[in-house]
Amino acid sequence: MANTSTKYANKLSLRSPLIIASSGLTSDPKKIKELANAGAGAVVLKSIFEEQMEQEVSNLESSSDFPGAMEYLQSYVQDHALSEHTDLIKACKDSLEIPVIASINCYKADTWMEYAHSLVEAGADALELNVMRIDTDRAQEWGTAEKGLVQMVADLTKALPRVPITLKLSKYYTNIISLCRSLSISGAGGVVLFNRSYLPDIDIHNEAIVSGPIFSSETDLLDGIRYTSLVRGAVPDLSIAISSGARDGKDLVKGLLAGADAVQYCTALYKGGARIIEESLAYLTKWMEEHKYAGIDEVVGRLAATRIDHANVMQRSQFMKHFSSHDDRPVDSFGGNIDRNDTNY
Ligand SMILES: Cc1cc2nc3c(=O)[nH]c(=O)nc-3n(C[C@H](O)[C@H](O)[C@H](O)COP(=O)(O)O)c2cc1C
Repeated sequence: MANTSTKYANKLSLRSPLIIASSGLTSDPKKIKELANAGAGAVVLKSIFEEQMEQEVSNLESSSDFPGAMEYLQSYVQDHALSEHTDLIKACKDSLEIPVIASINCYKADTWMEYAHSLVEAGADALELNVMRIDTDRAQEWGTAEKGLVQMVADLTKALPRVPITLKLSKYYTNIISLCRSLSISGAGGVVLFNRSYLPDIDIHNEAIVSGPIFSSETDLLDGIRYTSLVRGAVPDLSIAISSGARDGKDLVKGLLAGADAVQYCTALYKGGARIIEESLAYLTKWMEEHKYAGIDEVVGRLAATRIDHANVMQRSQFMKHFSSHDDRPVDSFGGNIDRNDTNY
């Protein structure tokens, strides 16, 4: 039988390349256990959000008649919120045999550091930093955000040298390949490509801004595939997990072929539960056997941009033949038509 074990973030051993992504599902130890039992290789816990902590503190500020007590209350609220996360880590470490990855979403350097230490002390096997932010400061020089990330990784890896640090990136950077290279040099163990942002939508009847869909769509996977292939080709030492759009075993295989060491599932688990993990892993094993692969390392990156023909296709943003075709069937990487009825597509 094909061996589905793999390495992630350079230091973690995973029994399978399917990771349970950070979400509401991963804030409940019982739910996590159920998903882990289905065969997942690792779990990323619900993020600790600095913004949320600050919100709780500011709610306190507006409701307190005793300003003198504020400092004490603020630190109590923050410690309490932090201890919810550290308790979750401890509960997961006690009941699971797979790596437990804690997730942090912060914007101030000192807060990253403080939370990182606490989560690692509680037993987290790795840290995933959700660094997504919409920068809108016109006075900020471009490139500032990227430099900040690289510096943050350098500081964290210096402070916690044994803990793999991964960054869950947004796709809205000018040059993701160059950013990944700098992150790798500064000590990052891996990147998650990509985070899915909160999407505002517009209600035209009420002329109001409303929330867009919470769940991803299947085509979201394709940007992850493109950049995974390119990053794998250019920065071979950096581990990659694809996130956004993965739904089933075929997507798992696609992610690995592109160059990901692991594929994260979130929407698929909200919609299909633990069964999706079992089915995806069964599909992967069968596919590996049919394609005569004994281990995951033989699969990872076979379609990465390490080869010039793969790189050419993955770098292509305008595809004349695709867009000008009168035939409405999509074209494959070499200009041939893809048959939508083909079960391999
Ligand atoms: C309800 C919900 C809650 C989420 N919470 C978090 C979170 O706390 N931290 C995080 O990094 N990502 C969070 N995500 C994003 C997911 O981890 C994932 O990156 C995104 O949904 C795209 O992957 P998918 O296509 O498999 O859903 C959340 C997603 C959903 C739908």
